Formats: sequence, structure tokens, C-alpha cells
Amino acid sequence: MHTIARCTLLFATMMAIPLATAAITNPLSPTPELIAEGKKLFNRTGCIACHGHNARGAVGPDLTDDEWLRTPSDEMVFNTIRNGRQGTAMSGFSDNITDQQIWTIITWIRDENRKRKLPQ
Ligand code: HEC
Repeated sequence: MHTIARCTLLFATMMAIPLATAAITNPLSPTPELIAEGKKLFNRTGCIACHGHNARGAVGPDLTDDEWLRTPSDEMVFNTIRNGRQGTAMSGFSDNITDQQIWTIITWIRDENRKRKLPQ
């Protein structure tokens, strides 16, 4: 095989491995419009009833500080909202909102966390 072809093949293989095992991450960009929409969805979907005003915590935990029950990767947060957490009051919301809407809520939650760290 030609060296260039072999190099191309090796490169393609190296690129394919991380892609195949990559964690799920938020595909959305945090525009002001999307962040505002995330807050609306959080309120409208009923998250506010348990996680409180501005997701600052109530029956359910605060979702905007740095304290999490599980390491807050995009994938963990997404799966928790989508599928719920067995044996807890946190039910899955895949019947109520789309995956895109879940990411929109996550975009807002992340922005709230970012804002809490800004100097007052
Ligand atoms: C009926 C109450 C209730 C509602 C409604 C609810 N949650 Fe929860 N949620 C909880 C509880 C309780 C937990 C903690 C579960 C546990 O102990 O692991 C939780 C956990 C979570 C977590 C993981 C927190 C962590 O620290 O690991 C996320 C993220 C989350 N909820 C987001 C949402 C979103 C977004 C919505 C709306 C789509 C929502 N929840 C609606 C009660 C609720």
C-alpha cells in the first residue's frame, strides 16, 4: 500500500475510535434566546415544582450550584432528565419533552451556574 494511503487509513482509524466511544454532549450553543427558552421549558414542564424557583432547590436538589449527587456530565444530566432516577421522585420526561428541549433546559441550567460564579 502507498505510504500516503496507509497514513490516511491509520488517521481515519484513530479518529473513529474516540468518535465511537465519545460521551453524549450538549449539541446546542448557548445563545441568549436558547437560554431564555430553557428557563421557560423548566417552568412549563413542572421541574420548578420540585427544583424550585430558578432551579435553586426545593424537594429536589439545587441544579445551579456545584454540588451534585452524581458527577454532572452532560450525559448524566441528560439521561437523568430523559429517563428519571429509579426509586426517587425524579421521573423521566421523555414523554413530555423532546431531546432537543432537554438540551435547551440543560443549557439554561449551565448558564445559571456560570452566572452564580460571576463577581457580585
Ligand atoms: C416530583 C419532583 C421532581 C420533578 C417534577 C423533577 N425533579 Fe428532578 N429530581 C427530583 C429529585 C427528588 C431528585 C434527586 C434524585 C436522587 O435522589 O438521586 C432529582 C434529580 C434531578 C437531577 C440530578 C441532580 C443531581 O444532583 O444528580 C436533575 C438534573 C434533575 N432532577 C432535573 C430535572 C428537570 C430538568 C426536571 C423537569 C423536566 C425535573 N428534574 C423534574 C425531583 C423532581
